[in-house]
Amino acid sequence: MYKLDRKLILSASAIAAAMLLSAVSANGATETKSTAKPSIDGGVYYPVVNGKTGPYSVNTKAIGKKLNHGRVPTANELKAWNTDVMPDGTGLPEGSGSASDGSDIYDAKCVMCHGDFGSGGAGYPSLTKGNAYTLKGSLKSQRSQDGAEGPVRVFGTYWPRASSLWWYIKDAMPHQSTGTLTVDETYALTAYILQLNEIKIDNILVDSDYVLDRAKFLKISMPNKDGFEPNIDGPKSLPGIRAYYAKASNFGGQKVKPSERCMTNCQKPTAKIVRIQNGGIKEFVPPMATARDLPKEEAKGFDAKTAYEVNCAACHANSSMGAPAIGDKKAWATVTQKGMEAVYKNGNNGINGMPAKGGSSLSDADFKTVVDYIVNTSK
Ligand code: HEC
Ligand code: HEC
Repeated sequence: MYKLDRKLILSASAIAAAMLLSAVSANGATETKSTAKPSIDGGVYYPVVNGKTGPYSVNTKAIGKKLNHGRVPTANELKAWNTDVMPDGTGLPEGSGSASDGSDIYDAKCVMCHGDFGSGGAGYPSLTKGNAYTLKGSLKSQRSQDGAEGPVRVFGTYWPRASSLWWYIKDAMPHQSTGTLTVDETYALTAYILQLNEIKIDNILVDSDYVLDRAKFLKISMPNKDGFEPNIDGPKSLPGIRAYYAKASNFGGQKVKPSERCMTNCQKPTAKIVRIQNGGIKEFVPPMATARDLPKEEAKGFDAKTAYEVNCAACHANSSMGAPAIGDKKAWATVTQKGMEAVYKNGNNGINGMPAKGGSSLSDADFKTVVDYIVNTSK
C-alpha cells in the first residue's frame, strides 16, 4: 500500500454514503408529494389511516396487551444480542490498541472497500473527509433554513457519539466476516479512524502513536455532538425559530413543544407525513469519482492467485457482497455471456458494488490476468 499525501487521496475519492442517502431522499420523494416543510429535527410523523401506517398494518388490538406468540428469550439469548455500547460506557469492554496497529489492520481488512485512509470507494462509505472540527456543520440550521449547509455525513463530522463507531466496527465489520475482530483490534481500528478524522481527546490529537483504551475512549467528545437538537432558547438560537415551532402547520397540524423530546408514542393519529424533501441533502464534496491514480505495483513475479487473494477475495470469496463468487459456475457463465471484452471493461471501470479494478492498483494487464484466473477457476 502506497501512502500518498492524504489530502490528495481524500479529495480524489468517492463517497458511498452519498449514493445511499440520495437513494433515500429519492424514494421519499416518490412516496409522498407532501409540500409541508421538513420538521426542524428530522421528525417524521406517520398518520394511521385505515389501520395502517404507510405499508404497515397496525394491530390496534395488541396495543397495551400481552403478546400471545413466541416465548421469552433465555438469559443467554439475551446476552448474545445485548452487544451494544452506550455513550456512558455500558457494554464497552476494557482493552486497548494503537492507531498505528489500527492502520495495519485497516490495510489488511478494510481498505478494499473503504479506500485508502478511509476515503471511501464506489458503493462503500467514506470514514473521513479530513479534519472533523473544520468540516463539521450543523443539522440545526440545515433543517430550518433552505440551502443552509449541513454537516458532511461521515463519522467524524456527523456522528454525535463515538460509542456507535466502536460498536459498529465490532459487530458489523468487516462486512463479509462480521464478529471476527477482537476487542483490542476494535480499539486499534477506532483509534485509527479517530486519527483520520483528526479528533482530539482531552485536547490531545490522536496521532499514530496514540494508544486508545476504555478510559480515554469515554473522554471523546465528538465535534457534532450538539448538532442534532435545535437550539431554541439559547442566545445563539436560530432566527425565527420560535415562530417556526409555534406554527402547527409546520408539524403536520400537530402542536409541538420544542423543549420536550418525545421517545415513545410520539405519533399522533391525525398527523400528516412530513419528510425531508428531495434535494434537501446535497452537499457531498468532492463528487463521486472512481478514478485511482496510485502508483502501479511492480509486476515482478506476478501471481494471479495471490493477487486475487489480496485484492478480490474480500468480496468475491462468496456472494454476500453481491459479487459473483469464485467457483460459482452459473454466476460466472452469466457474467461472461456478454463477452470477455465487456467483462474486462466493467471490471476496469467498476460497476455497481464493484469498484474500478476492485479498488486495487493492479496494472491493466495484471487486472485482466486476475479476471481470467477467476473466470477459469469458475468453469
Ligand atoms: C467487503 C466490504 C467491506 C469491508 C471489507 C469493510 N466494510 Fe465497513 N462497510 C461496508 C459497507 C457496505 C458499509 C455500509 C453498510 C450499511 O450502511 O448498511 C460499511 C460501513 C462501515 C462503517 C459505517 C460508516 C458510516 O458512515 O455509516 C464503518 C465505521 C465501517 N464500515 C468500518 C469498517 C472497518 C473498520 C472495516 C475493517 C475491519 C470495514 N469496515 C471493512 C463494507 C465493508
Ligand atoms: C469491494 C468489493 C469488491 C472487490 C474488492 C472486487 N470486486 Fe469484483 N465485483 C464486486 C461486485 C459487487 C460485483 C457485481 C457487480 C454487479 O452488480 O454487476 C463484481 C463484479 C465483478 C466482475 C464482473 C463484471 C461484469 O461484467 O459483470 C468482475 C470481472 C470482477 N468483479 C473482477 C474483480 C477482480 C479481478 C477483483 C480484484 C482485482 C475484484 N473484482 C474485486 C465487488 C468487488
